[in-house]
Amino acid sequence: MSQSFPQRDERLGKKVVYQIYIRSFNDSNGDGIGDLRGITQRLDYLADLGVDCLWITPFFPSPQNDNGYDVSDYRAIEPIYGTMQDFEELAREAKARGIELMLDMVFNHTSTEHEWFQKALTGDPTYLAYYKFVDAAPDATAKNPGPPPTNWQSKFGGSAWEYVPGLNKWYLHLFDVSQADLDWDNPAVRAEMAAILRFWRSKGVGAFRFDVVNLISKEPAFEDDLEGDGRRFYTDGPHIHEYLQELVREGDIDGAVTVGEMSSTTLDHCIGYTNPSRHELSMTFSFHHLKVDFLGGDKWALTKPNIEQLRDVFRNWQEQMAVGGGWNALFWSNHDQPRPNSRFGDTDRHWYESSTLLPTCTHLMRGTPYIFQGEELGQTIADYTSIDQYRDDVESINYYRILQERGLTPEEAFRVVHARSRDDGRTPMAWDDTRNAGFTTGEPWIGVVGNYSTINAKTECADPQSVRAYFKHLISLRKAEPVIQTGDVRFVDAPIGKVIAYERTLGNVRLLVQCNFSGNRQPALPTEGGELLIGNYPANATDVSTLRPWEARAYIWR
Ligand code: GLC
Ligand code: CA
Repeated sequence: MSQSFPQRDERLGKKVVYQIYIRSFNDSNGDGIGDLRGITQRLDYLADLGVDCLWITPFFPSPQNDNGYDVSDYRAIEPIYGTMQDFEELAREAKARGIELMLDMVFNHTSTEHEWFQKALTGDPTYLAYYKFVDAAPDATAKNPGPPPTNWQSKFGGSAWEYVPGLNKWYLHLFDVSQADLDWDNPAVRAEMAAILRFWRSKGVGAFRFDVVNLISKEPAFEDDLEGDGRRFYTDGPHIHEYLQELVREGDIDGAVTVGEMSSTTLDHCIGYTNPSRHELSMTFSFHHLKVDFLGGDKWALTKPNIEQLRDVFRNWQEQMAVGGGWNALFWSNHDQPRPNSRFGDTDRHWYESSTLLPTCTHLMRGTPYIFQGEELGQTIADYTSIDQYRDDVESINYYRILQERGLTPEEAFRVVHARSRDDGRTPMAWDDTRNAGFTTGEPWIGVVGNYSTINAKTECADPQSVRAYFKHLISLRKAEPVIQTGDVRFVDAPIGKVIAYERTLGNVRLLVQCNFSGNRQPALPTEGGELLIGNYPANATDVSTLRPWEARAYIWR
């Protein structure tokens, strides 16, 4: 039996969130980089799509070593993205269209250019205590610092520790060397973060995403990980729930829409993070469904997506989160993932069907759907042919080298990076078929995908049969149908492996969703007496007993 929280379920179950990767969304001043005014210029497009909330990736001052996820000041605007006036105008204009802004809070680490870290580097004990510094051996030198405190690996490759000769200490960076992990065991750090939230609350911000927030509480003693890369010592750590509760309380965000990005998390923890009785977060992103094409669990080893495994992950997270009273963020895509239609579908032969099957599968689930810019157009992965075209993804650039050190040829390493790079989805939003897809009048910071002359917003807005029109339909169904918003969920054992099917129920209403994740015909489930609610093949041609290549159909009984 699932636990429902009627008010929460209805509030979150009606929403659709749209993610803007600000750098690549729309450039208003011709410098080749997207910006806040660029977003304001496109609000009508977003309002027309029907989304409720815009998650905007970080636009705070930052050296941009990780495209803004390396924040050097949490209370100001990075000049390349605009000014505080631009932000306020965007917030006002969004509100006028019934759209809320969701800010991206990067609280696990700061940029090493943040004034706190800079003060720490001078030896100031107050600020040394803001980070995870560990003494080096007395005889350590810059040339010969000795072994780092633990064998933990950075998520972007290499050691998670950096030696600072002037202090004779190491500091922890789970990500890039310029992203130093904060010490959340220090109450002063927790108070700083809550104050930052209150600052944005006072500007009217009502929604927040928390970057890798389940990594903030680390085991107090640093020890080598003899089984893995160290993550078990800091993922969903000892005080994580307590620190989140405190942040929510002191940051005054209990009523806000919040989502935590949870790296390598567990279902039980996500129930804890999102069950309303705990006053932590509204919902969580978990990533297990996006690892079903990692060979042996390794992101940098390619294999085809395992659809049976995908179904098991969805079943488990859908059904068990409902039982525990938790709430899922539903997504295939974000700025860290390759475009999902290229990855899970067949964009060469069935571009439209693949690009619409995927959102049918997730948008009708229990939770809150997220759309990553361009996903609603069916944008495909970058068509780059050389490593130089991968501009800013520190992870890809590191792994291109690491894969070659592991023995791959440059061509093989490129093939892997091409399939897995975070830049694959960071290409400019395709607005129209003019030069640079209408993203900028200057030179885009990263190359546009070649197919923008057909896959673009202008063309698709004019076509009632487009991928975008299909997304718009899905969004309007969520607004209209209580069974989608708050219904219970149960997975169906589909007759064969490549179909993912589930039912939603609310009172006497039943919804059945079935998705054929393959290029072959598959037997369909019985749907007698049901009304076809949505499908990605022309309705009049529907043969009820089979699902065609990449076909998705949902039926409703009332
Ligand atoms: C999250 C962000 C990613 C960033 C990382 C470190 O995973 O989504 O883009 O690099 O955190 O902040
Ligand atoms: Ca710009």
